Amino acid sequence: VSDDIHLGASRSVYWDNDGPAVAYLDQRLLPHAEKQCRAVDVAALIDAIRTLAIRGAPAIGIAGAYGVALIRATVSDIAEQKKQIALLRQARPTAINLAWAVDLASTAEDALAEAMRIHREQIAVDRAIAQHGLQYIPDDARIITHCHTGGVATAGEGTALGVIIAAHRLGRVKHVYVDETRPLLQGARLTLWELMKNGVPATLLIDGAAASLMGRGLIDLAFVGADRIAKNRDTANKIGTYSLAVAAKYHNLPFYVAAPEVTFDPTLPSGDHIHIEERGADELHTIAGQRDGNFTNPAFDVTPSELITAIVTENGSR
Ligand code: MRU
Repeated sequence: VSDDIHLGASRSVYWDNDGPAVAYLDQRLLPHAEKQCRAVDVAALIDAIRTLAIRGAPAIGIAGAYGVALIRATVSDIAEQKKQIALLRQARPTAINLAWAVDLASTAEDALAEAMRIHREQIAVDRAIAQHGLQYIPDDARIITHCHTGGVATAGEGTALGVIIAAHRLGRVKHVYVDETRPLLQGARLTLWELMKNGVPATLLIDGAAASLMGRGLIDLAFVGADRIAKNRDTANKIGTYSLAVAAKYHNLPFYVAAPEVTFDPTLPSGDHIHIEERGADELHTIAGQRDGNFTNPAFDVTPSELITAIVTENGSR
């Protein structure tokens, strides 16, 4: 496909016409290798989403929509199509985008056209978020961020990281502090890589060092993304976001979230109702340690609304 979706965006997820297939950048291999892969059936796509080869809330939504098009193109039996769509919809539970986009594509007359519309819209949404978010970035800003909210996470130009990069282009960013984001190191691998590619001065830290840097007066504000936002603004995002927000509150620093409007889930009154994905012990064991015994590996946490200064969307702030 030689249009903007393929060439203009981050190439993290797109439709491969020669397939049919869903093409994607394997985010697990970044920053060491930029490998384009193809999922030719839904099982391969679900595996890519579950293992975080495709990750970031908007990107998994777009992958899900293309996945519906892939099912429609490769499976003739209608009952089997339904079964596969249901499996795809559940591949990851916390980000609202996957179920939202799968539902839109599967009820559309033309699933592929709908997936491409969702994808193009995300690129436009990212640009609008970047513009609205600029009002919160003062001159010489020293910003902390968590996880990865850049181009490959949205299959566009990023949400919170899109704001930061737009502010950098205006000369407003003095420094970005990047939480490594245990256990899968989205900050260390992806955010640092994207900031360096864009020439943004950045420093990596372990998640546990954030409060200490705030206490030393090195940080002016925090900007992060979101996977699902309840009606009362409680916000689910990568595990560690909540403790960053608590630390920001203690140090009187503003804490901003950037997310598309679709991230708001009107069916959930508060964050207590958000389904938090639990992942396996293997992710905790990538760094040496005792392997026996109990473990818990929640992939997300919920930041209470009162800790959030503003949520920036494509329409403004909430
Ligand atoms: O488990 P991940 O890496 O998919 O989690 C991603 C995050 O928590 C991001 O902050 C969120 O999806 C926003 S991406 C623009």
